[in-house]
Amino acid sequence: MTDKIKEFIVEAREFHTDSKEQLEAFRIKFLGSKGLLKEFFAEFKNVPNEMKKEFGQVINELKNTAEEKVKSIHEMLESKEESKGGYGDLSRPGEPMVIGSRHPISLVKNQIIDIFSTIGFNVSEGPEIEDDWHNFTALNLPEYHPARDMQDTFFIQTNPDVLLRTHTSSVQVRYMENNKPPIRTISPGRVFRNEAVSSRSHCIFHQVEGLYIDKDVSFADLKQTLQYFTKEMFGKSKIRLRPSYFPFTEPSAEVDIYWGLKTETDYRITKGTGWLEIMGCGMVDPNVLRNCGINPDENTGFAFGMGIERIAMLLYQIGDIRMFYENDVRFLEQFKSSI
Ligand code: PHE
Repeated sequence: MTDKIKEFIVEAREFHTDSKEQLEAFRIKFLGSKGLLKEFFAEFKNVPNEMKKEFGQVINELKNTAEEKVKSIHEMLESKEESKGGYGDLSRPGEPMVIGSRHPISLVKNQIIDIFSTIGFNVSEGPEIEDDWHNFTALNLPEYHPARDMQDTFFIQTNPDVLLRTHTSSVQVRYMENNKPPIRTISPGRVFRNEAVSSRSHCIFHQVEGLYIDKDVSFADLKQTLQYFTKEMFGKSKIRLRPSYFPFTEPSAEVDIYWGLKTETDYRITKGTGWLEIMGCGMVDPNVLRNCGINPDENTGFAFGMGIERIAMLLYQIGDIRMFYENDVRFLEQFKSSI
């Protein structure tokens, strides 16, 4: 009899399962109300006295072994289930992913960067909070120069030397101060002007300005570069340069692109002329080069600057500049399919 029980002890000790059902079957077989242990304990009274001690020991051992086995396998299965719970139901269909879209300002900015990087321009950036020197003085706009009024400026009240940059020409000044010609760089960034907000202008907007300085850079190079740009950006290369004035360039010009007069919108946005102004440009004034540590007798260069919002409004036919800053998803979602 004791040999039989010892075999059951081995069986219980070696038992293993991953299934709850098999564990339950094991429990019923050994510990159930009609199980083996019940049977052996009932047998106890029939065992001769001299064997009672040994018999008692083996059935106790069987009981402990079986109980411990049930307990440990139960805990193991339970913890497995818990970790499974962390993943949820793995057979469930996936949640649809909400895909965002790039902001139209970023789309246009990236496109402009791509176009210019193809012809060797790198990207430079600078601080939005500027000092007077980089935003004005170095750019041939000394204090009290009337042209400072061309760009209404946000000054920091307690210190007029600190201001929010009105254009990214300030980045070009920094770039010239820190790099020697040849220089080919474009400076995209956010700029600030103290202007009334309307459908056509905002006090915060974005610019990309370009700068090319080397030996013998001519106005013809500028024109060629602009033609390349407008062709790549709008698919149109008919441009005209209207004489204009910027303190940091001489001569200066305003760039118009021939948009055409095919649709009603064309009439509206070009005011019936077919021409659209898209940027300012010119040959860098020798004073500016000198201010930035570049010898104007050895180097010449051109610069240009455009508003990203204006270009985006033309490309996507957006009628109100304020749409860019409202972050209305119904507006933003329309740019999902763009790059
Ligand atoms: N900085 C000018 C502006 O913000 C644009 C410009 C840049 C004009 C370079 C000429 C040359 O309006």
